[in-house]
Amino acid sequence: MTVRSPLKYNPLMAKRGKWKSTLGFVLAAAGSAVGLGNIWRFPYVTGKNGGAVFLFFYILAVIFLGLVVMYAELSLGRATQKNPVGAFEKIKPFSPWKAVGFLGVFTGVGILSYYSVIAGWTLYYFYISSLGKFSEKLTEAQIDGIFSSFVSKPFLTLPLLLIFIFITSFIVSRGISSGIERWTGILMPLLFLILLVLSVYSLTLPGASEGLKFYLKPDFSKVNLKMILSAVGQAFFSLSLGMGAMITYGSYLPKEDNLFSSGIEVVAFDTLVAFLAGIIIFPTVFTYGLSPRAGVPLVFKTLPFTFSKLPLGRLFGPLFFFLLTIAALTSTISLVEVATSYLVDEKKIPRPRAAFLVGAVAFLLGIPSALSTSSRFFSRFAFGKSFLDLMDYIWANLSLPLGALLLSVFVGYVWGAEKAAVEIRPDKSRKFPGEDLWIYDIKYFVPLALSVILLFAVLGSS
Ligand code: PHE
Repeated sequence: MTVRSPLKYNPLMAKRGKWKSTLGFVLAAAGSAVGLGNIWRFPYVTGKNGGAVFLFFYILAVIFLGLVVMYAELSLGRATQKNPVGAFEKIKPFSPWKAVGFLGVFTGVGILSYYSVIAGWTLYYFYISSLGKFSEKLTEAQIDGIFSSFVSKPFLTLPLLLIFIFITSFIVSRGISSGIERWTGILMPLLFLILLVLSVYSLTLPGASEGLKFYLKPDFSKVNLKMILSAVGQAFFSLSLGMGAMITYGSYLPKEDNLFSSGIEVVAFDTLVAFLAGIIIFPTVFTYGLSPRAGVPLVFKTLPFTFSKLPLGRLFGPLFFFLLTIAALTSTISLVEVATSYLVDEKKIPRPRAAFLVGAVAFLLGIPSALSTSSRFFSRFAFGKSFLDLMDYIWANLSLPLGALLLSVFVGYVWGAEKAAVEIRPDKSRKFPGEDLWIYDIKYFVPLALSVILLFAVLGSS
């Protein structure tokens, strides 16, 4: 770990912010990656898509698409030292490519809008679990009731959305390293520790073997293209890829840092956290006869069981929801940061104003998502989906893979995969391990696989 002179890299003095250390960057990038995507979204899409088969394709997508695109984003960001729009513009000035950067900026705001709704739910669950709501032994009906009565109250879900976005914008308005690095360092490892404890407990439940069978024993007769698209979407969502978050975070990295090892560390940590979330959820689901296909509310209906039955659950419940809220916060920070860095770099808007502007737009866009559980109109908005589900589908399953597809073509052919590869090398005179494979992957495999999947999924669903 290299620690730099705080004076030299003080974000207030330097023109652009810089991470204080490599570890600070890895933690911040991991903070962006690890969030509700791992603990809320991963179990629910896994459950909806048949369990183990989904996990299988998810892991393939993480290795052959996610890790590869992670390097592409980090190298593009670091080489240009720019926000996503500026990065495309710097390498290919006056070309339509910067539209890909704009797509990222919009996608960030789009995801932020509904993600913060769910983050508001975690905040509420933190609150009620610290009041001891989950300390007695609760029945399924009671747990269901707590959830349903909460989400049907707009006067709770809307202010929670607002609070969450406000906190995010506030932190982002304070600047890059002081805002982001400080939080993640202590809290992420703590979250991981709690997840470990909870998974050990889950494995002792009577339904553990049935849960693990669902989660780990694939039934390949269930494979279909929509499921593969969901696996790819989930991989990009969970790793914060396809919308420029990692371009932005990479742009705050000094030249001498090691992209190669940072990339692997972030991907491995993120995947491990998601995997553990599944280990916690599925045994619980099968022990208490719940449905793995419950969708969006799955985690909120499952984890209270764990806490109401767990010795020390009174303690673990609030701690867990607190850490999950923080994990969500380090992710929303990166979502706000993408659009903010664009407004600051390119439009010369002062950082505080830009951060709150982005937050305000996301809040307005988030209102229908927050109402998706209470208003009839938004709960069955279109295509049989609620507004929130629809947003999630559009941004995560369509926009992220599309952004990643365009980025891979740009890095592979316009910038040149070979140039990007040199940026990734820890030692510029020597290839990094797997460099040839990476070049091949970003030029041929990623664009081809994503085009096929997107095309068929779009055709298939209409
Ligand atoms: N990766 C975050 C999570 O898993 C969500 C996110 C997606 C953040 C895209 C930034 C960009 O919770």
